[in-house]
Amino acid sequence: MKATVLVSYLFAFFGLFSSVYSRNVASRPAVVNIGALFSFDSTIGRVAKIAIEEAVKDVNANSSILHGSKLVVTMQSSNCSGFTGMVESLRFMETDVVAIIGPQSSVVAHIISHVVNELQVPLLSFAATDPTLNSHQFPFFVRTTQSDLYQMAAIAEIVDYYGWKQVIAIFIDDDFGRNGMLALSDKLAERRCKISYKVGIPPDSGANRGDIMDILVKVALMESRVVVLHVNPKLGFSLFSVAKYLGMMGNGYVWIATDWLSSYLDSFSPLPSETINIMQGVLALRQYTPDSDRKRSFSSRWSKLAGGSLGLNSYGLYAYDSVWLVAHAIDAFFDQGGVISFSNDSRLRSEGGNLHLDAMSIFDDGLLLLKNILKSDLVGLTGPLKFDSDRSLTLPAYDVVNVIGTGYRRIGYWSNYSGLSTLPPETLYMRPPNRSSANQQLYSVIWPGETVLKPRGWVFPNNGKQLRIGVPIRFIPFGNGKENPSYTELVNLITTGFFDAVVGDIAIVTNRTKIIDFTQPYVASGLVVVAPFRKLNSGAWAFLRPFSPLMWIVTGCFFIVVGTVVWILEHRINDEFRGPPKRQVITILWFSLSTLFFAHRENTVSTLGRFVLIIWLFVVLIINSSYTASLTSILTVQQLFSPINGIESLKESDEPIGYQVGSFAEYYLSQELGISKSRLVPLGSPEAYARALQLGPTKDGGVAAVVDELPYVDIFLSTQCTFRIVGQEFTKSGWGFAFPRDSPLAVDMSTAILALSENGDLQRIHDKWLMHSSCSSDRTEIESDRLELKSFWGLFVICGLACFFALFIYFLQIIRQLYRVPPAESASPTQGGSRSGRLHRLLSLMDEKEDQSRQKNKRRKVERSLSENDRDVELGRNTKRKGIEMTSGSNINPSS
Ligand SMILES: *[C@@H]1O[C@H](CO)[C@@H](O)[C@H](O)[C@H]1NC(C)=O
Ligand SMILES: *[C@@H]1O[C@H](CO)[C@@H](O)[C@H](O)[C@H]1NC(C)=O
Ligand SMILES: *[C@@H]1O[C@H](CO)[C@@H](O)[C@H](O)[C@H]1NC(C)=O
Ligand SMILES: *[C@@H]1O[C@H](CO)[C@@H](O)[C@H](O)[C@H]1NC(C)=O
Ligand SMILES: *[C@@H]1O[C@H](CO)[C@@H](O)[C@H](O)[C@H]1NC(C)=O
Ligand SMILES: *[C@@H]1O[C@H](CO)[C@@H](O)[C@H](O)[C@H]1NC(C)=O
Repeated sequence: MKATVLVSYLFAFFGLFSSVYSRNVASRPAVVNIGALFSFDSTIGRVAKIAIEEAVKDVNANSSILHGSKLVVTMQSSNCSGFTGMVESLRFMETDVVAIIGPQSSVVAHIISHVVNELQVPLLSFAATDPTLNSHQFPFFVRTTQSDLYQMAAIAEIVDYYGWKQVIAIFIDDDFGRNGMLALSDKLAERRCKISYKVGIPPDSGANRGDIMDILVKVALMESRVVVLHVNPKLGFSLFSVAKYLGMMGNGYVWIATDWLSSYLDSFSPLPSETINIMQGVLALRQYTPDSDRKRSFSSRWSKLAGGSLGLNSYGLYAYDSVWLVAHAIDAFFDQGGVISFSNDSRLRSEGGNLHLDAMSIFDDGLLLLKNILKSDLVGLTGPLKFDSDRSLTLPAYDVVNVIGTGYRRIGYWSNYSGLSTLPPETLYMRPPNRSSANQQLYSVIWPGETVLKPRGWVFPNNGKQLRIGVPIRFIPFGNGKENPSYTELVNLITTGFFDAVVGDIAIVTNRTKIIDFTQPYVASGLVVVAPFRKLNSGAWAFLRPFSPLMWIVTGCFFIVVGTVVWILEHRINDEFRGPPKRQVITILWFSLSTLFFAHRENTVSTLGRFVLIIWLFVVLIINSSYTASLTSILTVQQLFSPINGIESLKESDEPIGYQVGSFAEYYLSQELGISKSRLVPLGSPEAYARALQLGPTKDGGVAAVVDELPYVDIFLSTQCTFRIVGQEFTKSGWGFAFPRDSPLAVDMSTAILALSENGDLQRIHDKWLMHSSCSSDRTEIESDRLELKSFWGLFVICGLACFFALFIYFLQIIRQLYRVPPAESASPTQGGSRSGRLHRLLSLMDEKEDQSRQKNKRRKVERSLSENDRDVELGRNTKRKGIEMTSGSNINPSS
């Protein structure tokens, strides 16, 4: 029982083992069939045919690739027709091909991708470049060359590099051409450029010379002069020949051809001179393949293979690599246990009919082969072959070539990694990607017309229509004052297409930039207020003007305060501050006012008094010199006066304001400043300005001021001497020329304006036309030049504090002495009596003391004058002094 179980297990094990083993051996068939589908008689097809045959030979010669299996390729021509391609591909499906190299054409690829999806046979297309073939709709389509997505990105970058904004696209109107143009539009849009005109040419060379001429005549009437050609060689050469005939291969034109031109030139050069001559100066792209030893040795083999008549082009290299790629994938497929087997498709079981669709079968392990193809990682003649997650080859790159002489010259490279450069892409891959515009460069190009000057890329459209430029009737000082046009309306006419541009004093404001393009401003502008002014009468009362009334009042008060304080501090100990009350008041006034001229004769003897006086003299010094300076300027500089001194005072008043008809000042005043519309008076001419300003705000039709842009005001004031700009410019803006949105002219005009501005010409033009004034006096702004209290209050505070402290200390001394005084002996016995007695005693004591000190002062004075006298006498002076001596002498003892 147990033995039978063991035996049966053993059998089962061996059975399993042998079946796995036999599957592995059996899955390496002697022959592996692949198909190849392309147009034999096309440029690409002829090269590809030789390359594929050679590749199959090389693969079969190398036993380390397929390990004994032989690769057999069956070729069918699709004849560039979708229908033939489909029929031929169906014919492949009846045989047991595991993969198809091709198709060459994108149109055929679109059709047969549906077939191979169903039957799970991978397509390896070395020439179908339509970008949309990468979509998830076609999982069995694998592109072994670069997608046109990258070719179009390269074209867009070239267009941007040369600063062109619009291109014209001529394309072959099939899947290949249309989808290529869609990619070009997208890529141009990323760089803020666009296709301004697209024209598709029917495929199958349905277009004859007449049709092509019609197309090119239309192109010649367009604004853009940059033409992108995405066609096939046959159509391309017809286009060039007609363009040459129409003079469109000359100066000013730019032609950019996609890779059809370079592959044709690679295969058939040298071209006959009449062919190459019609396309001098054309730019073209070519798939970039890095130089390598293998590529060089293959190239040298090529001339033998092709018999010298056919050059190798990059599609030939991609075709060769596709065979190697599929061979490696099949090897890996076998290694993973893949089996070549086919099964009938239940959906194709035909009920009668003569189409033997049921002969087609599904490749069972197709998905596994596809996976191995997409996992490929090898180096071929075209460089590393590797697919990214998007099923495209990694690191796309193109050569940028320029057709000159008998062939072409490479002017640089484009790589998806770093953009345009003059270094081969491999060297860039070692550095971090750098797409900064400083890093984008190409060698110089010889453009059509044998010029090295970069074409501007556009012209004024020459389609029989003249450029219509709107010009507003200018604001001319003594012109025949017509009505001012509405600038808003003028600008609106650009958007409706009535004008192609408006040249004039168009203020650059938000509303307008929303709908049109402006150049850079050529004049700085801004709103200012113009008001009438009169000269100030600097006559009788000019001396009062330096100080504001408040300043006068405060200064006057301080004179009295300081006089009083000094009197308080001094009058007890200084005879000069004594006397009857009337005299004392006069002394106070006289003393303080005479300090104004530093001419006070009274001495101050107390420390506190001197302290107050010295601070006050300092204040007087400053006020004095300020007054002098201000009065001088008032009397010597011409003074203008206007009741309005800027937009603020204008806003606060409720007087009428004038503005120029049609100007944005109206909007600004009413919407931004909130001035009521009833106050705004439209004025149409400089004369109207002058009239309204002269009438004044009180009369009907008169205005208090006019608000307008500075340049107009400059012109207005150049002839009017009784009005002035008051206050500052209160908006900042400029004038520019207006163009329709995205007009290339706006950019060129801006560049020209900036050039004028940078070399100073603009300022000279401005000075010539706007600055000459017939009024002699220069522009002085009116502002209040009175000295206000606020400039001096610090001084007054210091002085006030000094007075306060001096008084405070003085009274402190008095109070201290009050408490030191002993009560009077003869005072009344009551408490109150005792205190008033004290005060009385104190005052008499102080008086005594003060009398003593006063006498001491006097004595000192007399002694001094006596000693001076003695000297004088000694010196033999006259006796006048003696009189003084006598008077002084009589005063020595006033109490006697
Ligand atoms: C054969 O193929 C392998 C793998 O690609 C390669 O390394 C080897 O150089 C090839 N041998 C010859 C003789 O080409
Ligand atoms: C290929 O197509 C052209 C026209 O489209 C035709 O004249 C030619 O006979 C076709 N060749 C083959 C082999 O079908
Ligand atoms: C597939 O269909 C063909 C033709 O109809 C038939 O001869 C063949 O036996 C079928 N094969 C299988 C595996 O059903
Ligand atoms: C091309 O470059 C872009 C970004 O620069 C990158 O996202 C994209 O994957 C690149 N494509 C390929 C095929 O390398
Ligand atoms: C890019 O290239 C420019 C010019 O070659 C260079 O000045 C700049 O530093 C580079 N930037 C980076 C990030 O390498
Ligand atoms: C700007 O546009 C608004 C709305 O169209 C309009 O009311 C206003 O008057 C315009 N301002 C100017 C300055 O044209």
